[in-house]
Amino acid sequence: MKEIQVGLIGFGTVGGGLAQTLFEQDERLQRKTGCRIRLSHIADNKLASLPPPFSHIRLSQDATDLFANPDLDILVELIGGLEPARTFLLKAIAAGKHVVTANKALLSIHGREIFAAAAAQQVEVGFEASVGGGIPVIKTLKEGLVANKILHIRGILNGTANFILSKMTEEGAPFAEVLAEAQRLGYAEADPAYDIDGVDTAHKLAILASIAYGRHVCLGDVAVEGISRLEPIDIEFAHQFGCRIKLLAISVNHGEHIEVRVHPTMVPNGHMLATINGSFNAIEFRGDTVGDVLLYGRGAGQMPTGSAVAADVVDIARNIVHNAVGRVPPLAYPSPTMRPAAITPMSHLVCPWYFRVTALDQPGVLAQIAGIFGKYDISIKSVIQHGRDSKEPVHIVFHTHNALEESVGKALTEIDALAVCAAPTVKIRFLEQENRP
Ligand code: HSE
Repeated sequence: MKEIQVGLIGFGTVGGGLAQTLFEQDERLQRKTGCRIRLSHIADNKLASLPPPFSHIRLSQDATDLFANPDLDILVELIGGLEPARTFLLKAIAAGKHVVTANKALLSIHGREIFAAAAAQQVEVGFEASVGGGIPVIKTLKEGLVANKILHIRGILNGTANFILSKMTEEGAPFAEVLAEAQRLGYAEADPAYDIDGVDTAHKLAILASIAYGRHVCLGDVAVEGISRLEPIDIEFAHQFGCRIKLLAISVNHGEHIEVRVHPTMVPNGHMLATINGSFNAIEFRGDTVGDVLLYGRGAGQMPTGSAVAADVVDIARNIVHNAVGRVPPLAYPSPTMRPAAITPMSHLVCPWYFRVTALDQPGVLAQIAGIFGKYDISIKSVIQHGRDSKEPVHIVFHTHNALEESVGKALTEIDALAVCAAPTVKIRFLEQENRP
């Protein structure tokens, strides 16, 4: 039976998940693939030895040993971050190794360089675990939906942010308290600002959009707003509007240009994404042939992510065994057919809005604010005032009809400059429903 040898850089949480998966599924994978996939060399500069049952595996402190190991067919990078991960992947590719990574930050910033290097060396790049943890979202998009023009992507792609919003919704808990719990549970990125500020979600959306549309979309193309300014009162108002607030990744295909954005969103309770709670992820694709497809599952964690990394390793092993390396290009489109990103400016976006204005409760205040909305052609659907106090600021919440993002920006700048306004207005976009068939 042919043996495929795998090297691993980084025996951390996910690396341990991969090792355990390959160990536990060894016999099943042999039956499924007709080859033996053996994790034979690990590099981790923080470990002096490997724990059982992995103590027999060769351990190096220096990743360079793996690039120089001629027996390795596939090299898995699971250290995260930009450097030295980028250099390690490029060196592995230069050494003719197929590579697998879960590194969404790296791919959303340096993906173009890495994919070009891999194409030149005719090696494969697997990155299933970079989006949606254990959910086979990339394989679905590249292969299952290959016969579709992707019309839109909507997703909850960050377990930490969804955990925080779910807890705030269900328990009315304050933001900081829930974040501390998410960190204790190990969901958060090394820098939890990536989870909260929407950057981790943007990394993942850039990767999905590149595959969906055959365009080089990078992190800098994605408009990002996080959830740190949300308060329990916004969750309460969302409830009154029949919605749940979710941090959504949204991409819409307009043909010549695409929207790519991440922001808190009012999702109507009847929409499936409103029902995704806790640390779970869900991704909705709309294809012109298939219609809507929703994938749901664990977006983080040792074994779910280990399962996704193992799936890449197995895919590559199968391609090696069947002389089919390069059968499916990493971004679904062969490199020469990839196009540059053409991004719809956020200022062109039109959707209904939620605004929470913090202002003094005095005669004429509402008229001033409403006057500014009128000036910018922003039509109010409903307004609710929370609290009543002539000295302390109160919350005045507006739900609008469709309004242009550019006009909203101008109106809120004027409103926030009013002497009666005590804090910057919180704005949340409603999920556009009018595009639904
Ligand atoms: N911090 C990420 C999350 C881990 O919370 O979803 C998976 O990418």
